[in-house]
Amino acid sequence: MIGVLLLLLLLLPLFLYIAAPQVRKMLFSGVCTSTVQLPGKVAVVTGANTGIGKETAKELAQRGARVYLACRDVQKGELVAKEIQIMTGNQQVLVRKLDLADTKSIRAFAKDFLAEEKHLHILINNAGVMMCPYSKTADGFEMHMGVNHLGHFLLTHLLLEKLKESAPSRVVTVSSLAHHLGRIHFHNLQGEKFYNASLAYCHSKLANILFTQELARRLKGSGVTAYSVHPGTVNSELVRHSSFMKWMWWLFSFFIKTPQQGAQTSLYCAITEGLEILSGHHFSDCSVAWVSAQARNETIARRLWDVSCDLLGIPMD
Ligand SMILES: NC(=O)c1ccc[n+]([C@@H]2O[C@H](COP(=O)([O-])OP(=O)(O)OC[C@H]3O[C@@H](n4cnc5c(N)ncnc54)[C@H](OP(=O)(O)O)[C@@H]3O)[C@@H](O)[C@H]2O)c1
Repeated sequence: MIGVLLLLLLLLPLFLYIAAPQVRKMLFSGVCTSTVQLPGKVAVVTGANTGIGKETAKELAQRGARVYLACRDVQKGELVAKEIQIMTGNQQVLVRKLDLADTKSIRAFAKDFLAEEKHLHILINNAGVMMCPYSKTADGFEMHMGVNHLGHFLLTHLLLEKLKESAPSRVVTVSSLAHHLGRIHFHNLQGEKFYNASLAYCHSKLANILFTQELARRLKGSGVTAYSVHPGTVNSELVRHSSFMKWMWWLFSFFIKTPQQGAQTSLYCAITEGLEILSGHHFSDCSVAWVSAQARNETIARRLWDVSCDLLGIPMD
């Protein structure tokens, strides 16, 4: 009897190894099944040199779009662009420098992009940081709020006319289930009064959803639609700032999504036909998903919009 138990115990890792992909499939069913092709379409993906962004860019390139990999590390970006070009046969995969922790870099990226491109059909606000020790961006914004929310807010604002001219066009912003723990503390937006690295991430991901809702509301009738996304729990480099999270990700790596699986909901929102009516909604596993009460609060969304404009020096309308 003990021998059988021991044998079962020894076989357990092998069983888990074989079963994991199936379990993963069962747990995370969202797959973008759209057959839409994208020749002539132009897409920008932020943070496209690794993780979910890289896979999103690859899928868009696979469908024939011209894809800009907006990366803070151009060298890393170039390697990935080459890889995508070889894998997809699409040579229209371009790398441009974008550091979302520096508004000068964001403005320079937008200026060059607007001079270079006639159209922008898909903007994927994907880049993100999680659980950073307290630090600030070049402009003095707390790092999570600065990169994840304010950086993408400014980028979208600068590219908005081009998106309107290219309509129908879409803005997809990658948020997280973690937004449920987030709160917008207007009196402590830069974490100067109190700071917790995990919660700072949650706050910024809540800001992503509020931004998307307000953007969708303001863009009604323009042909530009906006969606926020929870990609699932994905095996990526996002956990780089936390040894504990790195260990957890390693332990459960067989059961969490691959970056390719994590890219499905972003892709779904970027290309699925007939989704316009759901502009402003939040998606997970390629379906509309439930958001927290704060994330549905229009007053907070409007106030965050105004405060973000103020911080970034964008004229309010
Ligand atoms: N992984 C998950 O389980 C999970 C769950 C929910 C939501 N998300 C969200 O999914 C998105 C993608 O994350 P991921 O999991 O793919 O993480 P990742 O592998 O760490 O990729 C993050 C990307 O963002 C880029 N980035 C970071 N700071 C930047 C900056 N200042 N300027 C420009 N780019 C910057 C990174 O560039 P470098 O390589 O140069 O650092 C990298 O390309 C994030 O918004 C994240 O919040 C992820």
